[in-house]
Amino acid sequence: MQQAQAQGLPTATTGDVTPEPVREGIDLIVNGERFRHTGDPLMPLLWYLRDVLRLTGTKLGDAHGEDGYDLVLVNGKAVSAIKRPMARLAGARVTTVEGLAHADGSLHPLQQAFIDEDAIGCGYCTPGWLIAGIDLLTRKPKPSDEDIDKLPNRCRCGVQTRVRRAIKRAAGVKA
Ligand code: FES
Repeated sequence: MQQAQAQGLPTATTGDVTPEPVREGIDLIVNGERFRHTGDPLMPLLWYLRDVLRLTGTKLGDAHGEDGYDLVLVNGKAVSAIKRPMARLAGARVTTVEGLAHADGSLHPLQQAFIDEDAIGCGYCTPGWLIAGIDLLTRKPKPSDEDIDKLPNRCRCGVQTRVRRAIKRAAGVKA
């Protein structure tokens, strides 16, 4: 330290610095924020989102993730969050329904189209439809009815026809 002082370098007393071990974990980005998961690597992404980050927009449908309720975007693609373990998300960029609106608070065009077409019943399935719809519009900017009907999503309130109209509205396609 004396040598540092002699050279005019900044010094610190030994009590100022506490060495900390590096916590190993799985680094990922969720809705633009960086996180490190240090728990069970086999935890499904859905529980990490809902129970750890408290992002409860993504819902559980069936335990096999085949009805679209639990879809999120992983690196831009719709993925079942109940089927995806944290171990497979190192370096991933995850977007949930909470991350769809723009920073200025304006809605994603598909969210706005759902409102405009009144395509929301109880709302339980809506986050999954939005994620599946965005994935579809990325792959196919002008989707047909058939393309939309092939999505895995299910709705118990019977709003599928209005969802179809909303996706086509966002695509600028006549319903
Ligand atoms: S709006 Fe209720 S399950 Fe789809």
